[in-house]
Amino acid sequence: MAAADPLPRYRPAEFAVRFDEVTVERGGISILDRVSAIAPRGSCTAIIGPNGAGKTTLLLALLGEIDYRGRIVFGADGRPPRIGYVPQRLAFDRGMPLTVAEFLAMGFQKKPLWFGIDTALRRRAMEALTLVKADHLAGRIVGALSGGELQRVLLALALRQEPDLLVLDEPSAGVDFQGELIFCELLDDLRRQRGFTQLMVSHDLATVTHHATHVICLNRKVAAEGPPRQTLTDDNLTAIFGMHMGLVNSRSMPGDRAVCSAPCCQERPDA
Ligand SMILES: Nc1ncnc2c1ncn2[C@@H]1O[C@H](COP(=O)(O)OP(=O)(O)OP(=O)(O)O)[C@@H](O)[C@H]1O
Ligand SMILES: [Mg+2]
Repeated sequence: MAAADPLPRYRPAEFAVRFDEVTVERGGISILDRVSAIAPRGSCTAIIGPNGAGKTTLLLALLGEIDYRGRIVFGADGRPPRIGYVPQRLAFDRGMPLTVAEFLAMGFQKKPLWFGIDTALRRRAMEALTLVKADHLAGRIVGALSGGELQRVLLALALRQEPDLLVLDEPSAGVDFQGELIFCELLDDLRRQRGFTQLMVSHDLATVTHHATHVICLNRKVAAEGPPRQTLTDDNLTAIFGMHMGLVNSRSMPGDRAVCSAPCCQERPDA
């Protein structure tokens, strides 16, 4: 007999991905405990939670990189979506004498790089960089990029696959305030243009308040899930972070109305 559907209230057309009772144990330790949540189709869904909460683990389960119990279901016709992934950390040899353009073109090209890069592929690499407003990085050595610059190049790489689902693990880690704002606005624009779903882990509650349309509060289990204004409450934040966080007040942030076009900000009655 088929198992009962634990989240029957969502129709496949409404979500890009649905986690049903996802459970992960590693080395006998429970890392994720019956996590059930969704990323609504076309949303910017943020996963928040303290260090060690299992955020990266949940993304790795989604990407099929680790074993889990439970189900991860993709919406619409249930076919696996094209996934673009920007990892939390990238282990690579910083001494590698590879330019950003070569690094991006490498993914397209079938023949070895030492035969040179085809003009068409170089142009595609440049288009990918233009998309994330990083043309100026084309000739730079990948290993010499700053954290924020590298994040942008990795985003170009992820977008190059024209993903249905863009998964980002702390996309703004190491990015300064202005860079982060640009990064988030860029993603908001691209998401609207291309209609993909964005699923990101973030520690920055101001970013989440401004840009997420759906929030999953995770600390091994799901503590709360829903729109930011319902989930980012004092009680929920205290419950998952174990201390009083202070309510995130997006209205008090400098210039937020001028710069933020996310639906959560636009829907304010007084905006
Ligand atoms: N291969 C592994 N073996 C055993 N435990 C692991 C393994 N990988 C992760 N863990 C543990 O699982 C827990 C969740 O790790 P995870 O990386 O998912 O947390 P996170 O929420 O992404 O944290 P952070 O905010 O620090 O990135 C941590 O306690 C971690 O030590
Ligand atoms: Mg992590």
